[in-house]
Parts: sequence; C-alpha cells; structure tokens
Amino acid sequence: MRNVKNIDPTIIVIFGSTGDLAKRKLFPAFQNLFLDGRMPEKFQIIALGRAEKNDEEFRNYVIENLNLFSRKKVLSDKKTQKFLSHITYLRHDIDKEESYYDLDSKLKAIDQTFGVRANRLFYLSISPSLITTITENIHKIDLMPNVKQDRIIIEKPFGYDKNTARELNEILSQTYKEEQIYRIDHYLGKETVQNILAFRFGNSMFEPLWSRNFIDFVQITVAEEVGVEDRGEFYEGVGALKDMIQNHLLQILCMTAMETPASLGADDIRNRKADVLKSIRRIKPDKVNHYSVRGQYDAGFIKGNPVPGYREDKKIAPDSNTETYVAMKIYLDNWRWQGVPFYLRTGKRMPEKQSSIIIQFKPVPHSSFSYGNEGMTANRLIINIQPSMDIKLQFMAKKPGLSMSLSPAEMVFNYFSCSTMSPEAYETLIADALAGDPTLFMRWDQVEEAWDAIDTILEVWKNNAPTNFPNYKAGSWGPEAADELLARQGHAWVSNTSENTEK
Ligand code: BG6
Repeated sequence: MRNVKNIDPTIIVIFGSTGDLAKRKLFPAFQNLFLDGRMPEKFQIIALGRAEKNDEEFRNYVIENLNLFSRKKVLSDKKTQKFLSHITYLRHDIDKEESYYDLDSKLKAIDQTFGVRANRLFYLSISPSLITTITENIHKIDLMPNVKQDRIIIEKPFGYDKNTARELNEILSQTYKEEQIYRIDHYLGKETVQNILAFRFGNSMFEPLWSRNFIDFVQITVAEEVGVEDRGEFYEGVGALKDMIQNHLLQILCMTAMETPASLGADDIRNRKADVLKSIRRIKPDKVNHYSVRGQYDAGFIKGNPVPGYREDKKIAPDSNTETYVAMKIYLDNWRWQGVPFYLRTGKRMPEKQSSIIIQFKPVPHSSFSYGNEGMTANRLIINIQPSMDIKLQFMAKKPGLSMSLSPAEMVFNYFSCSTMSPEAYETLIADALAGDPTLFMRWDQVEEAWDAIDTILEVWKNNAPTNFPNYKAGSWGPEAADELLARQGHAWVSNTSENTEK
C-alpha cells in the first residue's frame, strides 16, 4: 500500500451501491480508510442505485451495514458521522442516457465546490453483463476524459473464457487506456499474499533454495467452508475453475513462482508475474483428466452440522453439472521450476476455511541416522494466508534424551504478533487505486494468459459432462480422484488443518 498523503481531491462513483459487495466490502473499506486518515482531504462518494432514495435514507442504509460488516464499529463516533456526510445518493438507470447526464452534472457541481477538477474513480460493482452498457454511456457522455486523473475499477469475472475476455477488453479499450483500468483480484490485497514478496525478496536465506534443485513440489489450497450461499444464480454455470483458479489461485502461484523483479514498480512486478503465467505448460485435450479433477459436493456434515448438497439449493438445477471443487497439477516450463509439480486445489463445503501454500523440500539425500528415525520427514515451509496468518518452517531436531533420535520441530512466525488489526484486502486495493498505484491489480496480459492457461480444461469439461456428480461429501476434502492425482507421483495433500485432521 502506498503512502497516500496528499492524494488529489477525488470523486468516487459506485455503480451498484445497494448490492452485496458494496454493503459488505466497499463501504466498510471506505469508512476504515477514512477513520485511518487514508482518504483524500477532499472526497465525495456518489452512490448510484435504481431505487428512489434521498441522502439520509441511503446513509442510514450504509450505517446499518457498517454495523454488520465493518471491522471498526464506532458508529456513535463523530468521525463516522463525518464520513457519512461524504456520501451522496443519486438515482440512476444504467440503460438510460439521461442518467449519465445527471451524473455528469453532479460531477461538475462537486468539482465546483472543491474548486478544482477532481480525480474520478468509477467503481463497477455490478454484474459483468452491464459493463458494456455502462462503458458505452461513459464514452458517449465523455465522463472519463482525463487519462491521468480518471480511473475505473472492474470486479471479476473479467469475461467467461479467453474469447469473451478479449471481447470485453476490446470494448473497454475503446474508452479507457490500459493505465486507467484497475481489474481487481481481491486476493492480491490480502496482507499475507503481499507478504510472500517480502518473505521471498526481503531475505537472502530462502531464495537460493527456491527452485527445482531443492523443492520437491508446491501445493496451493484455497478451501472454503461455505457453500454458494445466496449466490447460486451467479455461481451456477460458472464453477470453481473460473471463479477461483483462473484468478485467485493463479495469482498466488505467480507470487510464489515469479522471478525477482527489477524493482517493486507496478510494471516490473507485473512483468515477472506474466512470465509465470506464460510458462504454465498448456495441456492437450486428451490429457485434461490426467492433470485435473473436478468435483461437486453432496449433502454432508461440517463441524457436526448437517449441510445440504449443491444440487439441493433452491437456485441450483437439480441435475447441475457445475463444479464446486477443482484440483490440478501444473508444470512451469522455465529454468527455475522445470519438473516441479504445483498442485492447486479449491473447493466449497470443505471441513474448514483455509488458504495456504506448502513448499515441500526434497528429502535429505542420505540419512546418517541409523536407528530411531523412522519418522524422518523432509523440510517444509507452510505459508498460511487465512484465516491463520502465519509462516511455519518444519525441520528435524534431536529428541531430548540420551539417544540420537530425531523428531519433527517447527518454527512459527505469526502475523498477529506484529499487528492486531490488519487492513482488509479491499482497503488496501481501494487506497492503491485512489493513489494511482496499479501494482496489485491485474494487467490485461495477465488476465489473458490466465484464461489461456485453463482454456483447454474449460473446453473439455464443457463438452464432456461429468458422470459422477455429486462426488464428494460436504465436510470432506474433495473427491478421491484428487488424491489419486498426487498419488501417481508418490505425493499426497499435506495435512494443514487447524487440528491437523485431514484424511
Ligand atoms: C470470490 C469468489 O472471488 O472469492 C467466491 O467469487 C469466494 O466464490 C470468495 O467465496 C472467497 O474470498 P475470501 O476472501 O473469502 O477467501
């Protein structure tokens, strides 16, 4: 996150201000940034929505939701009241040109009050199907004419596959320059994901080991305890490959595998990440089943409570073939990583929420210990992203006692030992967008390469319906085939649950 002192006056326009994302993430993020003194001195939020409301009604709605979702619930606090005074509601119909003229007048009126042409940050917190209409209108009425001052934030999914992403990008690039487009992947705003860079490039002792010479395999897990909740309409037909792998997991892969950037400048970092995506080995259609596994959860139990299967959800077709779980094996064709498997998995309705990176080092080439060392395990580095936020190094140590026998030991760095309250991902990302720092946002070539990397799997899965769905129970770690994917290579998913209870 950049130092945001002296940010120019800014008007933030939120499309979809009464939607789920705005109430859960965006308003809490703006409030927290404001309370932490990280908003520009002069700023105004224009909240756009279809319903007829006045400012007071909308501010009451915001406050209710801050109470529910903000990490700082200081609502009686005068500062929060002050924050609310920066929010204006404007009725807006996305399809009607007049609405954009109204917005134009509002923007100009605020500029007048500020006494300066303010920066504009448009946040598209809406269904992707509306992006084109909004962009065409912004173009027609010329609401974002200034490349240096005007930015747009776009939520994922960016397209539904490589071709639709290209079409969308084509439309956007007729109105905005690439440096104006901030494509969000909220995982990049997470503290522990950013810490991967600090860990790798701020220390001299890990980087020399960070390659095929010492690392046996890498595992990236993003497991969720929740199902699709009330997002069935969105999720159905999308599935875990597009929803999670194409963006969040591939971005974590990039942070883990990238080369050292020349600087921490946006383009240097993004170039190195794009290299990783380009080096992902593209697989042939007949090898898709060899490299990937899909799954869908059935009814089961999580922490002792019964939960229904995916197909039992009201918004889901009873014969749905949408995958809620994906595991895949990826190879990177470059000098550093040749031959090292990267195993990625993500799923809904797993036994617990857990995102982590496991770096499994190679076993010692020869054991000098002749007895009592049956449990000799190779070194392992575990980077826990959430909800635990820590880094663990596992190694062998001598058991206290007269004999020379070993047992596994662990060194732990806990993020909370440095700070008790870290900013939420959206706070970091919005602060960066306000400051004009695109480092943690996805550049177009990254998005395109990420789609390209999974394109064959998407195609093969689309044309070959699964025959065994549902194939894992809610509360389990996914289908058996995901274990077989690793077992073929003599590997297994590493148990890293809070109670170490995996399989
Ligand atoms: C979103 C996906 O991008 O990330 C959701 O669309 C998923 O399906 C969510 O639940 C997970 O985010 P987090 O921050 O809770 O791990």
